[in-house]
Amino acid sequence: MSSTKYLIAPSILSANFAKLGEEISNVIASGADWIHFDVMDNHYVPNLTIGPLVCEAIRPITKAVIDVHLMVKPVDRIIPDFAKAGANVITFHPEGSEHIDRTLGLIRESGCKAGLVFNPATPLDYLDYVMDKIDVILLMSVNPGFGGQKFIPSTLVKLAAARQRINAYTAQSGREIRLEVDGGVTVGNIAEIANAGADTFVAGSAVFGAANERDPHRYDAVIAQMRAALGA
Ligand code: DX5
Ligand code: ZN
Repeated sequence: MSSTKYLIAPSILSANFAKLGEEISNVIASGADWIHFDVMDNHYVPNLTIGPLVCEAIRPITKAVIDVHLMVKPVDRIIPDFAKAGANVITFHPEGSEHIDRTLGLIRESGCKAGLVFNPATPLDYLDYVMDKIDVILLMSVNPGFGGQKFIPSTLVKLAAARQRINAYTAQSGREIRLEVDGGVTVGNIAEIANAGADTFVAGSAVFGAANERDPHRYDAVIAQMRAALGA
């Protein structure tokens, strides 16, 4: 995990669920890096999406990292199921766990990379004593539950604070941690978000809402525009 390499992680929440396998093949063929997999339970967040069975079904379709974002409460029971279903990264919200340190350990023991997710109003203090157990820090730039919302600008300040924590930790430990952002990321704001410190970008509606004009199954153009913005 080099912090200089930017990763684009389309959220399949905005994909066509009737053609999910094709959508995943196409978005990876279009240059995406990770598949972001949003799990919602209609309890921790006001929406209901997909679980381990769907993860297992899409696992054979791609070798790409499946980045499972758990918006569920409680969270521990379902973690081994996602690991068995082929998840590579599992992140969860501190509010979803009674014992955050234990949950992070459980994810690693299951063979996955572990991460904490911060809602817009959740302080970064939850990181204070667990940096050694974390591989990914995910900052929500919308309130979780739905795709297609607008990026909350104060996330930029929070990203800079998270980046400082990561850099200090990496300098002392030699270990890298990814800084991922989720919600309202577009071609228009991705450069500013990267400048604030993010290196991994979830984008749902911006990617799946922008099929190529000639081939509606390809997303090359929007992903290339994101990479161009990141390179500029
Ligand atoms: C929101 C989800 C996001 C969402 C992103 O709760 O965690 O991953 O799908 O969608 P866009 O990019 O449309 O904001
Ligand atoms: Zn997400």
